[in-house]
Amino acid sequence: MTDIITTQATATAAASGAAATERFRTRQSEDAPAADTKRVDTLATELITAVHDIVRRHQVTYAEYDVLKSWLIQVGEDGEWPLFLDVWVEHVIEEVASENRAGSKGTIEGPYYVPGAPRFPADATLPMRDDEEGAPLLFQGQVTSVDGSPLAGATIEIWHADNDGYYAQFAPGLPEWNLRGHVTADDQGNFKIRTIEPAPYQIPTDGSCGNLIAAAGWHAWRPAHLHLKVSAPGHQLITTQLYFQGGQYVEDDIASAVKPELILAPAPVADGDGNQVTYDFVLDKA
Ligand code: DHB
Ligand code: FE
Repeated sequence: MTDIITTQATATAAASGAAATERFRTRQSEDAPAADTKRVDTLATELITAVHDIVRRHQVTYAEYDVLKSWLIQVGEDGEWPLFLDVWVEHVIEEVASENRAGSKGTIEGPYYVPGAPRFPADATLPMRDDEEGAPLLFQGQVTSVDGSPLAGATIEIWHADNDGYYAQFAPGLPEWNLRGHVTADDQGNFKIRTIEPAPYQIPTDGSCGNLIAAAGWHAWRPAHLHLKVSAPGHQLITTQLYFQGGQYVEDDIASAVKPELILAPAPVADGDGNQVTYDFVLDKA
């Protein structure tokens, strides 16, 4: 027997936001860099000046200023800063960070990565419920170095939402590590991962990010995606996501994280259920 609680009924912005905030805090305390006064001065001054410019340009009123204040307070209370930043800011941080890379494209990590997922050999089936919904997906490929050599024993870490768009460890009712795993490639860098196709992900609508989206008349969706971290000794880790050709919101991701190189075109499995797709990763040297 697996979980019978349905996630739709119980998933709330407060629950996933608070979990994402808690998760981030735990990781951040371990590797925060020391502040450089000059750098903080430059960045903080320019950020504040950009806000002043917007106020002048748009003649922002006291009423609007007070709405902004309450909204900012609410983002913190909802624990939605990780959600907000990863949707509207992280894609540019990633763009800057990966400017000089020659290997496979990366994209944002998002708020739902959890280190320490169970480990599997090169031919793996991700942890899933007996009755896990969604089309079966065979995701396979090879990890090589930029010079073309196979990276034996490379690590492919994968995590993704379920068929309802929910992530284990963040939405209630999902078994721990559901649809999450570390896969070790074989001696040729090859891997085969059996999972299900995730559904598009909706930013929680009942919290402050949802309020902003509704107030601005935007939509709240990200296209269906697989999250990955691919690494090998002597090489730079890539954090990326893969999307599904023709899928809803691929052309209009609220988190602006889709790149043309990251779109998969799965084909039906010849003698079985579901789809398969091959995607190779090329890692830059460290
Ligand atoms: C968010 C959620 C995701 O699944 C993702 O990949 C990126 C951002 C978010 O809610 O902020
Ligand atoms: Fe995601």
